[in-house]
Amino acid sequence: MKNKLIIAIDGPVGSGKSTVARRVAEMLGYIHLDSGAMYRAVAWKALCEHIPLDSTEQLAALASSLRIDLEPRNGKQHVILDGEDITEWIGTPEVSHAASMVAVVPGVRHPLVSEQRRAGAQGGVVMEGRDIGTVVFPDADVKFFLTALPQERAQRRFIEERAVNTAANFEETFADMTERDQRDSSRTDSPLKIADDAVVIDSTGISIEQVLERMMTIVRERIAGTKQQAENSEQ
Ligand code: DC
Repeated sequence: MKNKLIIAIDGPVGSGKSTVARRVAEMLGYIHLDSGAMYRAVAWKALCEHIPLDSTEQLAALASSLRIDLEPRNGKQHVILDGEDITEWIGTPEVSHAASMVAVVPGVRHPLVSEQRRAGAQGGVVMEGRDIGTVVFPDADVKFFLTALPQERAQRRFIEERAVNTAANFEETFADMTERDQRDSSRTDSPLKIADDAVVIDSTGISIEQVLERMMTIVRERIAGTKQQAENSEQ
């Protein structure tokens, strides 16, 4: 029996999942895998190659042809596309928008989901995204669904955007976020939704530390349960 867990964290834009996923992984000595970065990598390449974002066939062919490696370096996940580190290019609002567009295409999702399953199969992973607990790892050991009120999520995203672009505008950030959430939740293949067995945490008005405390209590209980089960089956 594997003794390291698969922890799934899903949620909409600005729900805080990246921060908590990274911290939970650090605390447990697990790998942190941000699956959204893979959709961003495909989107970035599609934009570079001027592939129309509604061309499902071209996007599917592109996704199948790329090699995307997610590598931890100095505590941060780096995205390596066909050998090139593209981490610094894929955080822009333009790539966010395009990532949500390419993520609608089943032919894009399938190769990425296979890769995510391969990366997490041994356990010891905290994987974040939109469909981790529902599609990628429906049998994940612990599933969280993080959320917060739209105003607060947009505010968090706006603060991040303004740090790199002083011309960022809150109304635009709010509109982009709403559009992306709507597309991510309404697509036919693997929409963003709460898994039946996920623990829902609303982070509106509470600190990251408080969110982490709630999550770690649940994770530690689960680790203890798994150990107990393993001991019982050895006897
Ligand atoms: O988490 P993020 O903002 O980096 O994700 C970018 C886009 O990728 C998001 O709008 C939807 C898509 N995505 C997805 O469809 N499934 C995932 N598991 C992760 C991200």
